[in-house]
Amino acid sequence: MKSWIHFSKGQVPHQAHVGVGELKEDELGRQGFSGRVAELYHVNEPTGWTRIEGPLRPWDVDSNKLTPSDQDDPRGVPLKAFYNADVSIAISRRSAPMPYYVRNADGDEIYFIHRGTGTFETEFGPLAYEPGDYIALPKGVTYRVVPDGADNFFMLIESVAEVEFPDYGGLGRHAPFDPAVIQVPEPQVLEANGQQEWELRIKRESEYTSVYYPFHPLDVAGWKGDLFPFKMNIRDYRPIMSDRLHLPPSVHCIFQAKGFVVCNFMPRPAESERDVERVPWYHRNIDYDEVVLVHAGTLLGLEVPPGMMLVNPQGIHHGLGEEFRQWEKANWRKDEYFDWQLINVDCERPIKVTPEVQAAVSEKPPVLK
Ligand SMILES: [Fe+2]
Repeated sequence: MKSWIHFSKGQVPHQAHVGVGELKEDELGRQGFSGRVAELYHVNEPTGWTRIEGPLRPWDVDSNKLTPSDQDDPRGVPLKAFYNADVSIAISRRSAPMPYYVRNADGDEIYFIHRGTGTFETEFGPLAYEPGDYIALPKGVTYRVVPDGADNFFMLIESVAEVEFPDYGGLGRHAPFDPAVIQVPEPQVLEANGQQEWELRIKRESEYTSVYYPFHPLDVAGWKGDLFPFKMNIRDYRPIMSDRLHLPPSVHCIFQAKGFVVCNFMPRPAESERDVERVPWYHRNIDYDEVVLVHAGTLLGLEVPPGMMLVNPQGIHHGLGEEFRQWEKANWRKDEYFDWQLINVDCERPIKVTPEVQAAVSEKPPVLK
């Protein structure tokens, strides 16, 4: 429900997120901050709890400590980390080429390349990969991952529903990225090279079935249509920003599907007006659980470990703490630049955390406390 009926009561700034002063601004937002909203101006820090009892809690995971079976075994698979009925987020650390081809009959896949280079051999043709790439593989496409070296790290997002780009509305045809930056494969028939038999592993309802062929499964001489694998790199995403207002995460959306959105927070200048809030305020993103991967960069010059994954569930406050906010205000520079590179998956249904990942919970880095 969209409404333009807004009230202001008590001690509030003239404009939300500007001139907040000593109060603690807290946003209670529907529909991932694109729906109805309340700004609440607290006297105390909303995340200043003494302890939490019960299942609702934020998770801070050092994904570098996760060891998916594909890290050491070429026949291994990614490790499912976070999931609900609409979407699952897995970590793949594949160190050797897949000795089989694979086809996901459960849903669309988006690989985000955190580390490593190599090739996705697809039946549409090859797609080379490098850090910062999104490799989008529609449900049903046959492919194989062939890394160049052993050190690879992918976040694999699997969606039950079809993944699409959001509608960027009035931003025109070239923002936040020029659609022509999207790369699609050129067809390439691969040679047998003496091999007698090829295995195709089909995943359906999370179970694998192997189908064997006496010829190479990547034998497509040509293709046409509007369903295809593709890639694009985050460097080609040019974030929408306002110099005078910190904009909500919804403006940084890159993919959407039923039940979740993917937003990427990419490098940009900080808001330059002195009393404009730069640090995201406390919030309850009450219709979404948030899963964040720290890909690269810093938080206003402070180190954030690459590979950290943070889960912030619906209902419980999050936001950078008062200590950080005071530090940021004390060190304010007009020409500050945010060099962060964060990949954020906002999920409507509550996210479950697999036992393997619960065992890898790490201390929140001091900068994020
Ligand atoms: Fe958030």
